[in-house]
Amino acid sequence: MAATPIIIDCDPGQDDAVMLLMALAVPDQLDILGITAVAGNVPLALTQRNTRLMCELAGRMDARVFAGCSRPMVRDLITAEAVHGRTGIDGYDIHDPAVPLEPQHAVDFIVDTLMAADDNSITLVPTGPLTNIGLAIVKEPLIVPRIKEIVLMGGAMREGGNTSPSAEFNILVDPHAAHVVFTCGRPITAMSLDVTHLALTTKERLEAVGAIDNKVAQAVHSMLEFYDRHDIEKYGTDGGPLHDPCTIAYLLKPELFQGKHVHVAVDIHSERTMGETCVDYWRVTGEAPNTNWIHSIDADGFYALLNDCLRALG
Ligand code: BDR
Ligand code: CA
Repeated sequence: MAATPIIIDCDPGQDDAVMLLMALAVPDQLDILGITAVAGNVPLALTQRNTRLMCELAGRMDARVFAGCSRPMVRDLITAEAVHGRTGIDGYDIHDPAVPLEPQHAVDFIVDTLMAADDNSITLVPTGPLTNIGLAIVKEPLIVPRIKEIVLMGGAMREGGNTSPSAEFNILVDPHAAHVVFTCGRPITAMSLDVTHLALTTKERLEAVGAIDNKVAQAVHSMLEFYDRHDIEKYGTDGGPLHDPCTIAYLLKPELFQGKHVHVAVDIHSERTMGETCVDYWRVTGEAPNTNWIHSIDADGFYALLNDCLRALG
């Protein structure tokens, strides 16, 4: 079967970094047309650099990386150094990446690539605030029918918020962009905190990553050892949630996940619940479903898939 054409939009972040490595490990299954960076976990100058560092680590010097928006559409940027460290990928040995930054702006790359594509042909995989994707849709609405699906990390319902009482980080950082995306009319699959909080880096799972004898797996082990301390303390769990890699795992092995087709709206009106994903889980509004809201994961199967990808990069 032909590889699925995708554009990844991210804000690394250790979990974005692992997501990138998984995607870069399977060129026969995922045809990465470009990777766009957005401001989120850390400012844009760091997210685009971290993206290029991960492409270099994966040995994918051919990867095309574009820098996008340096702030959300309306609100001020919120960053998450408390989770990810000052660099965004603390635990990794930072240097100047050999993979260059493309001169084109990420939003223009997204627009041009989709405008040159057939209808229903390219899957978007956003794992950061949705500023680049939302702005691309606003700039050129004709891209919308060309999008096959949007498989994103963002939102929360049962789990509650991680950045405000009801909002998840990616949606809260740019709720207006998220509103544009959730109302665009193309199929959305959402990996929210409801599912990503089930994909924990337990001690055993981290040990299994550390037992893989190649430099990519060792780098992932080192980044995750830094990353998990924050959520272990915050939630009292056995490990940190690997949020963003759930998107790539879904594209590679959808059978690992279960979801329900529901209507999701993003609150952009109330300051207290700004960025909340209002999930009509019991279909009480009569509004047509716009999202496959993923609620369950085979977490052991997910970590087995991650390890397969890391071995493939050896
Ligand atoms: C999301 O926020 C970021 O900190 C992570 O990279 C992930 O995309 C989880 O709320
Ligand atoms: Ca992210």
